[in-house]
Amino acid sequence: MTSVGIDAVEIRTGKLRLDLPETFAPAQGDDPGKYTKGLGLTASSFPDVYEDIVTMGANAAHALMERKGLEPEDIGRIDVATESAFDNSKPVSTYIAGCLEQVYDGDFHHANKGERKFACISGTQSLDDAYNWIRAGRNRGRAALVIATDTALYARDDPGEATQGAGAVALLVTEDPDVVELSTEQGYGSADETDFLKPQQQFPSVDGKRSVQVYLSRMREAIEDFESVTEPIHPDDFAFIPFHTPFPGMVRKAAALGYRHASRDTEIEERLADEIGRQPRYEAFDSEEAFREAAADYTDDLTDTDLYREWYAETVEPTLTISREVGNWYTGSVHVARISALKAAAEDGVDLAGEKLLVGSYGSGAQAEIHAETVQSGWEDEIAALDVDEQLDARYELTFDEYEDVHDVHNHDEDAGASDTDQFTAPEQEFVFDGWGRMG
Ligand code: HMG
Repeated sequence: MTSVGIDAVEIRTGKLRLDLPETFAPAQGDDPGKYTKGLGLTASSFPDVYEDIVTMGANAAHALMERKGLEPEDIGRIDVATESAFDNSKPVSTYIAGCLEQVYDGDFHHANKGERKFACISGTQSLDDAYNWIRAGRNRGRAALVIATDTALYARDDPGEATQGAGAVALLVTEDPDVVELSTEQGYGSADETDFLKPQQQFPSVDGKRSVQVYLSRMREAIEDFESVTEPIHPDDFAFIPFHTPFPGMVRKAAALGYRHASRDTEIEERLADEIGRQPRYEAFDSEEAFREAAADYTDDLTDTDLYREWYAETVEPTLTISREVGNWYTGSVHVARISALKAAAEDGVDLAGEKLLVGSYGSGAQAEIHAETVQSGWEDEIAALDVDEQLDARYELTFDEYEDVHDVHNHDEDAGASDTDQFTAPEQEFVFDGWGRMG
């Protein structure tokens, strides 16, 4: 059976940077440690007034096609994953295809286009759709372009405001991929939840504390479901574990619970017991809350052990480097975590070919999905071709007043001033938002 997976990636970050400890925390009257230590974030990538999900997605897709020397006829489907869509009829992929057709001779008239929605997990669902399409043999040798693009903005003074972000990830999905092959095995944890929703409104309504618990519950179910079709997972099976990262502090909690689960009945559990002085409790609990309390009691000690710290530093921490600087990209977030890990390995000169990743995707509403990936021999060249650091360094540093203005513009506030200022100058050679037209 031919291997199918991710052949190439590109990202495009929002062009503005909001510093959390230096700019946001003082304006909010908060201790900077809440953001840097508690949430694990230093900055957020914010969309400039000429950026939206279409421009960021089109710019990421264009960069990917240029680098891989692709023409529109090489692409058989364009799937866009987003929870920031502005059109309830036309999928965002048609807008992005329209942008790309301005700069290519060919067109995408024979490519299937769609839009996936299930909060943040739809990025991975679109990847799965592309994978299934190729595995079914319906692709006629063509590749799929998957674009995860979001402006993850919250209402001013919402607790989620510090976790904002904006950016797009473009993934090229093909046979015999260069970056990672996806496993056929998957696990799901899915339930109707109402902790995070956006019914016909600009910004989400969020029960933040509950959203953290729902993430952990669905992720636990997904891991168990994954193990029902594979061997039980062991913490040392994977070079990296990229999770959906709304903020790194969330992943810190998920990783500790995952480690507790995966070390059950292994030699690690015995070594942990020696260090902590007791075993975890695995009996059936009456409620999720009772389980969480018992698990948290153990994981608080677990995360202080040398064994865990070493594992976390090698397997999870490298997935968070980009996220700390950009915040939540919703649908793109777990795909940023994968890039972050591969980039760290390349910088350390680690040979990852043949190594496994365990990828944990999540979307509010709520669903978690677990699958494995095998790193392919071309991964290093692909990662070397990215300009992530350059993009992050080139962002314009916002003052708090400017941040307030730009936030108002994205909130379609008629009195917003930022669109009238000339400090935000749209770059050349990129797609930018120009009212209802987009300029190439
Ligand atoms: P909050 O209530 O403002 O913050 O919002 P907090 O008071 O809970 O503090 C956060 C952490 O910082 C805590 O650590 C504090 O102890 C610590 P924890 O107890 O959690 O380990 N802290 C400090 N640490 C050091 N020095 C200090 C200090 N002060 C406090 N001085 C909340 C937190 C997550 C609720 C908020 O950011 C929020 O509502 N975020 C949006 C929702 C969200 O991201 N949820 C995550 C799970 S749901 C998800 O991932 C899906 C999503 O991506 C959407 C989708 O799928 O579409 C959001």
